Amino acid sequence: MEDVAEKVRKEESGFSRRGFIKGLLAGAGLVTVGVHKALGQMAGGAAKAQPVRGWGVPEGLVKLNGNENPIGPSPRVVEAILQHAYGVNRYAQTQDIYAKIAKLHGLPVVTPTSPFGAPAGAWVTLGAGSSEVLYAIASAYLRQGGETIEATPGYGNISTLGQGWGCTPKWIPVTKDWQHDLSAMKKAITRNTRMIIITQPGNPTGILVPVAELKKFVEEVSPSIMIFLDEAYIDFARKAEDRVGGAYLIKDHPNVIVARTFSKIYGMAGMAIGYGLAQPKVIDELNRNKGGRPSMLAVHAAEAALDDIEYQERAREVHNAGKEYLAQRFKEMGIEYVPSESSFMLVNVKKNSDEVCKRLEAEYKVIVGNAFQRWQMQGWLRLSIGLPEENEAFISALKQVLTTI
Ligand SMILES: Cc1ncc(COP(=O)(O)O)c(C=O)c1O
Repeated sequence: MEDVAEKVRKEESGFSRRGFIKGLLAGAGLVTVGVHKALGQMAGGAAKAQPVRGWGVPEGLVKLNGNENPIGPSPRVVEAILQHAYGVNRYAQTQDIYAKIAKLHGLPVVTPTSPFGAPAGAWVTLGAGSSEVLYAIASAYLRQGGETIEATPGYGNISTLGQGWGCTPKWIPVTKDWQHDLSAMKKAITRNTRMIIITQPGNPTGILVPVAELKKFVEEVSPSIMIFLDEAYIDFARKAEDRVGGAYLIKDHPNVIVARTFSKIYGMAGMAIGYGLAQPKVIDELNRNKGGRPSMLAVHAAEAALDDIEYQERAREVHNAGKEYLAQRFKEMGIEYVPSESSFMLVNVKKNSDEVCKRLEAEYKVIVGNAFQRWQMQGWLRLSIGLPEENEAFISALKQVLTTI
């Protein structure tokens, strides 16, 4: 077997990444933990090749606007996709993923009575991205009008969907230190409130609601109001106890729904698979409101991803290092930023956001989120954490733009 270091050298000297992974996967048993680690290190390493070469984007493009995982997919995910590619003439036949996800979150595991589709009585539903789960939640509970309560700035997807069906969103500003204002959210409850949405950690803030406060909040809200916990980014939290999430609340609270996605920590945004967790009655309701299903390849890939703990740790390390690096640079540059527990950061460059974004892209091929366009936060950018060289490219481009604007 060719030495891993040699493979990495070839990669750095221009050998195509796709070819590299294909080469790794071609030999039986080559996707070992060691190779996986080397791949991760290569992806996360501080290679200074010019122009910047991000995973899954054209050479030279620095794409930091979609909160995608920059380290490329887990080789185990790629292997699972290749293994099952010849079976795509069939609908998904594995149901193991339901049990795997339920176990991961300490929820009851249901034995399927039929080999097809979602097991009856499951506490888990799958979606084509967690977006499909979010759609199902809004469709199931917000079509009769009423009100939603959600933080602003926030992800806003469910409240906006509900608004389309005549459900009024109540946007509750985050506190001065960017926290969900749980007491204001509670005060906003009326007899018309249908659902409270909490994004944990917040998007775009990256701030977590402390575990004990969230539990107290759920216990105090009437069980007639649905509480949706969107945990798309929770795996990026630094402390393990903050990554547990709210699934443990579901057994005692039939009004709690949790959603997670494979798009972020698992590095599978392009596979479009996510899941929802709730009591079986709620899951049934969500299943009735879904429009599709994840692809068979996505299901196999997700199963492989759940097992690849090392990959998730590597992804977290790369993000934590990226956040450290960026925070340091922002401090040196005297730029305000929000300390994040997520895979992105809010930063206030105190210039016209449109102008900064436009120039970063046009002059440096650096794309970042424009927080003015999305949340009317003039001067702010939402920056996805990239590989070290991508973060560096962003900082040097930003310095150039800010001195000449
Ligand atoms: C807070 C939040 N929830 C849900 C989603 C949907 O993700 P996906 O459909 O890729 O699972 C996103 C996507 O970025 C998000 O930011």
